[in-house]
Amino acid sequence: MPEGSALIPLIGLGTGPLRGRVCVDTVEQALRLGYRHIDTAEGYENERDVGEGLRASGVQREDIFVTTKISPSHFAPRELERAAKDSLMRLRLSQIDLLLLHWPNPQVPLSETLEALCGVKRAGLTRHIGVSNFEVTDIDEAVRHASEPLVCNQIEMNSFVDRPKLTAACRAHHMAVVAYCPIARGEANNDAGLKRIGQAYGKSGSQVSLRWLVQQGISVIPRTSRIERLSENYSIFDFELSEAEMSEISSIARRRSRLATVISPMRAFALKTLPAPATSVLRIGYRMLRRVMGGTAR
Ligand SMILES: NC(=O)c1ccc[n+]([C@@H]2O[C@H](COP(=O)([O-])OP(=O)(O)OC[C@H]3O[C@@H](n4cnc5c(N)ncnc54)[C@H](OP(=O)(O)O)[C@@H]3O)[C@@H](O)[C@H]2O)c1
Repeated sequence: MPEGSALIPLIGLGTGPLRGRVCVDTVEQALRLGYRHIDTAEGYENERDVGEGLRASGVQREDIFVTTKISPSHFAPRELERAAKDSLMRLRLSQIDLLLLHWPNPQVPLSETLEALCGVKRAGLTRHIGVSNFEVTDIDEAVRHASEPLVCNQIEMNSFVDRPKLTAACRAHHMAVVAYCPIARGEANNDAGLKRIGQAYGKSGSQVSLRWLVQQGISVIPRTSRIERLSENYSIFDFELSEAEMSEISSIARRRSRLATVISPMRAFALKTLPAPATSVLRIGYRMLRRVMGGTAR
């Protein structure tokens, strides 16, 4: 492992938008089943529930890798430190394992945010720091400003959304890639191509999507509130996709991702410039379009 990188478990549990009892129970069950990475964010408003689930599981704190994320509205230096402390208080932990910037926020200079994030790490509030939803140019800029290693970029990736240039950029900077929406919000399970590939191994479409990612060294954080699916999503280490199957899935994912790459910047521009009623219609249309394409709009 290169110096300054983090050992992030390949499989973790996503918890957004689980809340309340369901969240507590799911975290507890996941840890009992063997999951060792739990992903949350201040924006999910479930850090208290996640903390309760961690304690209920009885698993030793040092055996669990906890990721949380700072919301872009708290990227100003003083607010960032406050937000990190608030997360710790809600989780009832003395240290986070990985603290991420949830999305880039062009309103606050990245240099200032990075300085604050690195300060929070040096103060011992978190073991590691990283980013989420950062594109290639954002990463280059972030690395330039960071005085501590940025160990991860958490991005949307699944068998319908491939990001080869972005993952290559992360690797060049020794950053791990963690894939969110790794089963395309359940869509991977219904995909005929993935189901066909999975049949040979007795695996589901969801498991094939997860396996395609972990086989590339990408960590995954699927979310489910169903116990049987917790075990299903975890059972991806007892089969191996062939090179031909990996390429087949990649080629589908790349074709769909290219469409998303064209549409996303146009959407961002329209959301900035159009009046509110028009942007509401646009948001609905965008969600429908991405669903058709297999992407999962945030
Ligand atoms: N950094 C970011 O900006 C960002 C953005 C989005 C998400 N995330 C993180 O990534 C995590 C995962 O992403 P996600 O929740 O959006 O999408 P996901 O994990 O791809 O999909 C979750 C959906 O798939 C269903 N599902 C789970 N396992 C299944 C299986 N084996 N077969 C069929 N359906 C299954 C779940 O329903 P049931 O509950 O009914 O099983 C749920 O509706 C989130 O929880 C969050 O922690 C991060």
